[in-house]
Amino acid sequence: MFHSKITGLGFYVPDNVVTNEDLSQLMDTNDEWIQERTGIQERRHVIRGEDTTTTMGVKAAKIAIERANIDKDEIDFIIFATLSPDYYFPGPGVLVQRDLGLKTVGALDIRNQCSGFVYALSIADQYIKTGMYKNILIIGSELHSHGLDMTTRGRGVSVIFGDGAGAAIISRETDLSKGILSTHLHSEGQHAEELALIAPGMGKRWVTDIIHENDPNDESYFPYMNGQFVFKNAVVRFTEVINEGLQANQLEVADINMLIPHQANLRIAQFIQQKFRLTDDQVYNNIMKYGNTTAASIPIALTEAWEQGKIKEGDLVVLAAFGSGFTWGSAIIRW
Ligand code: UT7
Repeated sequence: MFHSKITGLGFYVPDNVVTNEDLSQLMDTNDEWIQERTGIQERRHVIRGEDTTTTMGVKAAKIAIERANIDKDEIDFIIFATLSPDYYFPGPGVLVQRDLGLKTVGALDIRNQCSGFVYALSIADQYIKTGMYKNILIIGSELHSHGLDMTTRGRGVSVIFGDGAGAAIISRETDLSKGILSTHLHSEGQHAEELALIAPGMGKRWVTDIIHENDPNDESYFPYMNGQFVFKNAVVRFTEVINEGLQANQLEVADINMLIPHQANLRIAQFIQQKFRLTDDQVYNNIMKYGNTTAASIPIALTEAWEQGKIKEGDLVVLAAFGSGFTWGSAIIRW
């Protein structure tokens, strides 16, 4: 039996900065509303043709591989988390295998939206623990901007989300006091439609329905979010799953050196911080700069926190996420 540890981290965001002021040119919104409700000041949007979900993921992965100090041929498996894949199928995992020129290793695509990175980490952890693989590349990447309703109709969703990618190399650790101590995953499909993109799909609206009806007011292929309902569930589930992780390892809140919450909304992160009475040094947020990048948000924030020297060897790092599904999860890591 082994442990797994994060040995390399990288992130990539497009250069194109979109401010709240820029969005107010497209829809009836304003900087004050967005900052007050979400804390977001700006986000990045891909300029069409310059990047895709896969190419952003590949750029983040190259940095993570270099920092892990391994050759790309030492990667045994790829896990790619996204809700915004380049193609309906195949998923981006195989595109990463191709673009990075990796050996014909397995490539697994997972969904799980805002919890995607925590789910990916948990899967990687199981493969490493059992000894099946030594090094796994995991990526969370999202290109939201081109799928959002950039009119006033979509403002409750479109001002929140941004584009970007984060990647990590998860490797074998023989010291069982280090690395990923545990992961905790949950779902509650009862609320699947409260934060969802319904079409095109094989359930309610087929591509042929959309083409046939050709309705310019069709909203079904834009994401829908029942914001207040999601918010209320998020604060409860974040709290539960962080507590669950701490209890599973006989740890206390005071043991946390760094909490990286999924960057859903700065108000949610602040609520959690207050609830657990954590200091500003114990929580890392960057939603102000990048918006909510869904599966990419935790690896981007984790990479930035690490780059800024805020995570040191021996630290207890807690990752926690909640989002569409609903799905939620946490990871407890001894760095
Ligand atoms: O990452 C996945 C998990 N996602 C989350 O956790 C998100 C959770 N939810 C939220 O973060 C918040 O619910 C939002 C930030 C999405 C919305 O904040 P809210 O305080 O719940 O606002 P609301 O949806 O209740 O809307 C309040 C008002 C409405 O106007 P009326 O009906 O009161 O006249 C909206 O039409 O604000 C209006 N509104 C806007 N106004 C300006 C909604 N979006 C905007 C906007 N600009 N962008």
